[in-house]
Amino acid sequence: MRTEFCEALKKAGDLKELSKEELVVLIDADEEESAALFSLADQVRKQFMGDEVHIRGIIEFSNYCANNCLYCGLRRNNRQLARYRMTMNEILDNARQAAGLGCRTIVLQSGEDSYYTADILAETVYLLKKEMDVAVTLSIGDRPREDYEKMREAGADRYLLKHETCDAELFAGLRPGTSLAERVERLKWLGELGFQVGSGNMVGLPGQTVETLAGDILLMRETGVEMAGIGPFVPNSQTPLGECPGGKLALTLKTLAAARLALPRVHMPATTAAGTIDPSGRDKALRCGANVIMPNMTPAAYKADYQIYPGKPGLSDTPEESYAKAVKIVEKAGRRVGRGYGHSDNAYLAGNFKLPAKN
Ligand code: 5AD
Ligand code: SF4
Repeated sequence: MRTEFCEALKKAGDLKELSKEELVVLIDADEEESAALFSLADQVRKQFMGDEVHIRGIIEFSNYCANNCLYCGLRRNNRQLARYRMTMNEILDNARQAAGLGCRTIVLQSGEDSYYTADILAETVYLLKKEMDVAVTLSIGDRPREDYEKMREAGADRYLLKHETCDAELFAGLRPGTSLAERVERLKWLGELGFQVGSGNMVGLPGQTVETLAGDILLMRETGVEMAGIGPFVPNSQTPLGECPGGKLALTLKTLAAARLALPRVHMPATTAAGTIDPSGRDKALRCGANVIMPNMTPAAYKADYQIYPGKPGLSDTPEESYAKAVKIVEKAGRRVGRGYGHSDNAYLAGNFKLPAKN
């Protein structure tokens, strides 16, 4: 193992703040170093987050999107995709089913679809929270601050808005008409409004380097986000990046592990994208830092059309089957299903490194 790798790992083990250079060294780990990196990340995850894995049920309620991100199958110029929108009643029925199965968090996700006004969404969140004993996460992209405020007032607990890449030029090229600065500003708003905020990035985007990935982790530390979704880029032939090579699982896992060391108290999912490029991708992710799994609860009739990228596992699964598979992955990794909401304790914002660890 390289001396600089051993030094960076030692520093991480002592819970000292890692520099960008040190994160680069960690993410650059070779096979032998990776084993040591994963083992420490697993240990830090256990120490700070415990052995529970939180199950967050995702409802993909609309695949319409006004944006045209170069990597994503929901982009508005993709005419090959059959579009759907779920009604409020369909969403509530679906949420009821997910909650009944045991999900303590419901994630409402869609493309950027202004058909759903802030009032409609706020009412949906309000009714959902009134009836079901669950936390609600929204993942619906860029909106005016007032919209976020309405949804927060209606009872939404969390918001996911990935920064995707910390490279401003790459960001602008991949997400036409939007900017990284704007995205980061939105993350700030969401925090101010009292949401538990999630960001994240893709691994293996064309033009990205190991330095970019280290920067992604640093950006999440600087913005103080409480959830970090890190997954591989998966090329989609219905997009302009269809011919690009996809992100590798090994690099994704190393980035995830380095993120766990830099952000010990952050909730990190074993992403669906990791499970897409490797059948045991989510299982492996749980063993190197992840503590959340997000089974797809979308009705089977719509599921296949939420095609951000191809090859998502379990497209014909019913919500029952998706939930059961998630539980299986958790148990296979030697962990247990979290019974609580899996809220962030805001400890990260209060200063990660000064707080006593959970036993
Ligand atoms: N590969 C992997 N993840 C993708 N996303 C969008 N397109 C892709 C892709 N081709 C992710 C982004 C976004 C979320 C909707 O899905 O990170 O935040
Ligand atoms: Fe729309 Fe999000 Fe896909 Fe971009 S990544 S096209 S905003 S769904």
